[in-house]
Formats: sequence, C-alpha cells, structure tokens
Amino acid sequence: MYKKVLCVCLLIAFVSVQLATSLTCYHCTTEQDCKKPQLVTCTNATANETSYSLGYYHQNVPAINGSTRFDCLRIRYTQGTGSKKQVVNQIHGCVHPNVYACSLSLKPEYASNGWNKEYCNICSGDKCNKNPAATYSSSFYTILTTSLALILTKLYA
Ligand SMILES: *[C@@H]1O[C@H](CO)[C@@H](O)[C@H](O)[C@H]1NC(C)=O
Ligand SMILES: *[C@@H]1O[C@H](CO)[C@@H](O)[C@H](O)[C@H]1NC(C)=O
Ligand SMILES: *[C@@H]1O[C@H](CO)[C@@H](O)[C@H](O)[C@H]1NC(C)=O
Repeated sequence: MYKKVLCVCLLIAFVSVQLATSLTCYHCTTEQDCKKPQLVTCTNATANETSYSLGYYHQNVPAINGSTRFDCLRIRYTQGTGSKKQVVNQIHGCVHPNVYACSLSLKPEYASNGWNKEYCNICSGDKCNKNPAATYSSSFYTILTTSLALILTKLYA
C-alpha cells in the first residue's frame, strides 16, 4: 500500500518536473565561488549576469535584451602550458543562447597572458553544467603542488 502511494508521488513529481519550463543551472563566477556553487533558475536577469561575467574576459559579448529559452554554461580557464598550467577561473551559469558564449574570443590582455579555455560547454537540461565543486579537489591539488614547487625553487635557487 505505502509502496503504491510512493510510486504515485514519484510519478507526479516526475511529471511536474517535466512540465515545468524553467531551467536550473549551477552558478558561480570565481574560483572561490565555485567551491560552493549556487543553483539558480534561468531568467533574463540571471542570464544577464553570466553575460556580464563573460564581459570581463571576452570581447564583443552581444547585449541580448532577453531570451525565451536558456541554456547552462560551464567554462574553465587555465593559464600556462604543461606542468605550469593552472586553473585561473571558472564561469558557471544560465546563458542566453544567442550570446554563443563558447565562440567568444578572449580579450587580448588575457590571451597574451597565456589564458586558454580548458573547456567550454553549453548544454540544456537541469544542472547539466555539472557541479564544479565535484572536480575542485584535483585542481586544488594542482595549484597546491605548483605553488609548493614554486616556493621550493625560490628557496633553493
Ligand atoms: C538584460 O540585459 C539587456 C541588455 O543589456 C537589457 O536590455 C535588459 O533590460 C536586461 N534584463 C534584465 C532582466 O536585467
Ligand atoms: C533591444 O531593446 C532596445 C531598446 O529597448 C531596442 O532598441 C533594440 O532594437 C532591441 N534589440 C533587439 C535585438 O531586440
Ligand atoms: C525575457 O525577455 C524576452 C525578450 O525580451 C521576453 O520575451 C520574455 O518575456 C522575458 N522573460 C521574462 C521572464 O521576463
């Protein structure tokens, strides 16, 4: 009896999730933020926030008045190559599809400083832009070991 009730409840929950047109994405705009990303519902305002963050690093971010549907975005920026490569920032959030976020070019001051997009994905589906905190530990250790290596080289050089 209880199992049946549970099944019906789950079914109702599932159907109402499917019916809801709102999209939820992980949102964070700095390395610090991305340790504890928020979940946000996509609106013109939250997608605008992402455009604003993209504008820090990219040139010619188009100003979109509003969208009727949204996507989730995740970008991770690194600096340097090989063993010196380190994560410098991440942007996760709701995005206006017409910003074509992954086609934007880095501003010259970042590009000439060795910045790269390690990855850039646009996806549709709730939380499809993955929790950045889940992969945080490995980049944390990368930063930790590179900083230690730097300190040691400084000490013994
Ligand atoms: C989003 O940004 C566009 C373009 O800058 C602006 O026209 C619009 O009013 C903003 N919408 C919201 C909800 O902030
Ligand atoms: C955006 O809004 C401005 C002012 O509200 C309007 O002049 C412009 O044509 C709009 N742009 C688009 C692409 O709809
Ligand atoms: C977002 O902007 C679009 C285009 O300007 C508009 O059609 C839509 O109603 C807006 N959405 C909300 C929730 O304000």
